[in-house]
Amino acid sequence: NHRWKVVYLAEQQGVEQNLDKNCTGSLYYPKQRFCLQYALKYIRTPFFILNSAYDVYQFHHILVPPSADLSGHWNHCRLNPAACNTNQTNILQGFRKDMLAALSLFFKYSKRGGMFINSCFAHCQSESQDTWLTSDSPRVHNKTIAEAVGDWYFGRRVTKEIDCAYPCDSTCHNLIG
Ligand SMILES: *[C@@H]1O[C@H](CO)[C@@H](O)[C@H](O)[C@H]1NC(C)=O
Ligand SMILES: *[C@@H]1O[C@H](CO)[C@@H](O)[C@H](O)[C@H]1NC(C)=O
Ligand SMILES: *[C@@H]1O[C@H](CO)[C@@H](O)[C@H](O)[C@H]1NC(C)=O
Repeated sequence: NHRWKVVYLAEQQGVEQNLDKNCTGSLYYPKQRFCLQYALKYIRTPFFILNSAYDVYQFHHILVPPSADLSGHWNHCRLNPAACNTNQTNILQGFRKDMLAALSLFFKYSKRGGMFINSCFAHCQSESQDTWLTSDSPRVHNKTIAEAVGDWYFGRRVTKEIDCAYPCDSTCHNLIG
């Protein structure tokens, strides 16, 4: 999730003129310049995408901000995914599907890229040891985030892990629920 922020910060800090001209000249620019899926194909630096498919910050601030739910239909669901009704769960699953669709070309074709998209209600899983590399850290296909990033960083193998959909993952350290 830090990587996603880098694109945004680049804009904020006025380094736009250093961005790839093929990117800034594209059809989608500038409207979607913040969106990694459009910037991704112009980035030649090897890239690792680490995010949860149900990022709690995105869930609470982008997918269902309180200002978009004045009647509070989502109050229970926002605090506990198990309390979501069928429609809300479908919307959350759609959110995951859209994200995976946006990353599908990277997933299929990037030869030097890596990814780890788990299905946890989390945000920022890289800076604390308990979600990065311990015996009970979140895993996808029995691989921790540190192992997946290590595979990519040290060029050991192409590692692009995508978790099964919520609620299948029992290794999550969820922030809600
Ligand atoms: C931009 O695109 C052109 C045409 O596809 C390509 O030849 C050129 O190398 C690209 N430039 C950069 C900086 O990627
Ligand atoms: C779910 O969505 C359908 C179609 O929009 C609607 O008819 C139904 O009332 C909704 N159910 C709940 C529990 O919100
Ligand atoms: C998962 O990985 C751990 C080491 O990280 C290993 O001890 C364990 O046997 C693995 N489990 C499976 C089911 O492969």
